[in-house]
Amino acid sequence: MNVKKWGAVAASAMLVGALALTGCGNKEAESTDDTAVESDGGYTLVSDGTITVAASLDFPPFENMNTEGQAEGFSVELMGLIAEEMGYEINYLPSVSFDTIVPMIAAGGQADVGVSSITITPDREKEVDFTVSYMDSNQGIAVMKDSGITSLADLEGKTIGAQSGTTGYDWASENIPGAAVEAFQEMTAVFQALQSGQIDAVACDLPVAQYYVNTAYTDAEILLEIPTGEQYGIAVSKDNAQLTEAINNAIQTLKENGKYNELYEKWFGVSAS
Ligand code: ARG
Repeated sequence: MNVKKWGAVAASAMLVGALALTGCGNKEAESTDDTAVESDGGYTLVSDGTITVAASLDFPPFENMNTEGQAEGFSVELMGLIAEEMGYEINYLPSVSFDTIVPMIAAGGQADVGVSSITITPDREKEVDFTVSYMDSNQGIAVMKDSGITSLADLEGKTIGAQSGTTGYDWASENIPGAAVEAFQEMTAVFQALQSGQIDAVACDLPVAQYYVNTAYTDAEILLEIPTGEQYGIAVSKDNAQLTEAINNAIQTLKENGKYNELYEKWFGVSAS
């Protein structure tokens, strides 16, 4: 991990710290949610003793549904370690559409956190708070190997598929001249549409595109890697700033005690630093 990244993490930690102070005052003034349970840390949880997680479970190797219908992946296990560190259980709600997660967390009452490889963006930061980043990512474009598409220019006039509400959808809309961008609710449906010829290319986070191409869609390949420099954060309600702070502390501990690195190596086969 390079120095620049740690600088960014430290800067966002300070920002979160500043938000935590404001959020605290707001919460006492408003005292909005009757059902939520107040913890010792001055934050609330929708269900006592448990961190309730909203996720779009279609994004391997980060968050996915295994054959037994259980949530699995790097971020699922990371959330497990964070919860353990804080002395809680975790409960994943049934998978939701990615584009509903930030509004759901902002509205409160259903889930404590949104954990779905959510890129920290200025627009989303208007609606929710983010923890420090736990993962760096970029965009990728995947095409079928036999498509004859070999460059960005070849995508002109073509149809690009992306998951609704994602940075991949935005990137494709803004950067592929003359292309039509089609939104799908589920990431899995985007790759199915690629294989069936309904779309010509997929725009999505590079590690996920790589995962799909290396597993279920070996007849597809990565056409382009786009260095967007995205960072994933956990989304928390702005009314629950002390929860963000507590999760940041847990992430910090997991980075210091080696458990984050161990998990990173388990899922990505390389060291995080
Ligand atoms: N990182 C991208 C974004 O924030 C895509 C995330 C999609 N996540 C998912 N679990 N399907 O827009």
